[in-house]
Amino acid sequence: MKYTIAVIPGDGIGPEVINQAKRALDAVAELYDHIFLYKEAQMGACAIDAFGVPLPEETITICKNADAILFGAIGDPKYDNDPTAKIRPEQGLLQLREDLGLFCNVRPVKAYDSLIKNSPLKREIIKGTDIVIYRELTGGIYFGNKKLSADGQTATDTCSYSVNEISRITHLAFKAAQTRRKKVTLIDKANVLETSRLWRKTVTEISKKYKDVALEYLFVDNAAMQIILNPKQFDVILTENLFGDIISDEASVIGGSIGLLASSSIGKENALFEPIHGSFPQAKGKDIANPLASILSAAMLLEHLGLDEEAGAIERAVEKSLVLNITTEDIKGKNKYPASTSKVGDFIVDYILNQEDSNLNFMNIHAGQSTII
Ligand code: IPM
Ligand code: MN
Repeated sequence: MKYTIAVIPGDGIGPEVINQAKRALDAVAELYDHIFLYKEAQMGACAIDAFGVPLPEETITICKNADAILFGAIGDPKYDNDPTAKIRPEQGLLQLREDLGLFCNVRPVKAYDSLIKNSPLKREIIKGTDIVIYRELTGGIYFGNKKLSADGQTATDTCSYSVNEISRITHLAFKAAQTRRKKVTLIDKANVLETSRLWRKTVTEISKKYKDVALEYLFVDNAAMQIILNPKQFDVILTENLFGDIISDEASVIGGSIGLLASSSIGKENALFEPIHGSFPQAKGKDIANPLASILSAAMLLEHLGLDEEAGAIERAVEKSLVLNITTEDIKGKNKYPASTSKVGDFIVDYILNQEDSNLNFMNIHAGQSTII
């Protein structure tokens, strides 16, 4: 089959990791006889430099016309350190989410057996963790009215949610739970926030239609603690935009590195796939960034297109790279001969195309790069 994929490399390490994700997709295309037609588009600090805006019209058009969107990373320290900047790279991503109606952000978090030793958390706490976070992505405080008073002394961000915004993601979260361990945990702050009370009421009502799924509630402060204390209690986490942003970075510690977490952002017509990590400007151009989150995002993209077997091929290659310890320094540590971004990509491509047999070849070829030979 032929698919058009909009590719937005973005800022920082975005282009490097996206490059490896495209190589993985090309390997899949070769093996399964597909054609992926890439349409490159700009967004973020690089777009501000080139066009004066973080999200050029052309990017929106390319994305709207594609079968799926693959995105790298966004952000640049020159804006982070300047609170007075009127135009910011992140506005590009937020506007794209809004324009394309990408309301449902899905972030899987699991503890890979081979990486448990890398996590700062204890083995018995994280082993077997398998969570998927459903984060609402186009509402809440991110998109409410923002104001700075004329005298610059008071700032306001409004948090607002409608029943419709809550309902559409809730249905998706419950449907996902039905294919998993049949539990949804709603994370909110219903003891304080009116919006959270509307979430509870709406989600409770909808849950009655999914009798096989258990619904639990947790206040977000308690949830932040529970995720580290006992992550195995969670199956599907459902939450609003800001809480989901925070909780998902926290949960990434379970996986051993934020460099492993992929995500999809789904709307009615379009879907975007991106690693949850940022632009990691310190690593830009050094060939040290972990490409796996980006490569796993490409796997989620394939699944979205209905190409489950193809997605599985990428996932197996990623798991194998972890088992064989062909990983970047965020996972391996600086003194243990970490593989470069492109070497990890080489292995993934090699493994997709040759499966089992190639490992030995690869290990021999790159013997100097690895500790386990
Ligand atoms: C994320 C990011 C974004 C967010 C930023 C870059 C706007 O942190 O996707 O989690 O806050 O949603
Ligand atoms: Mn975030």
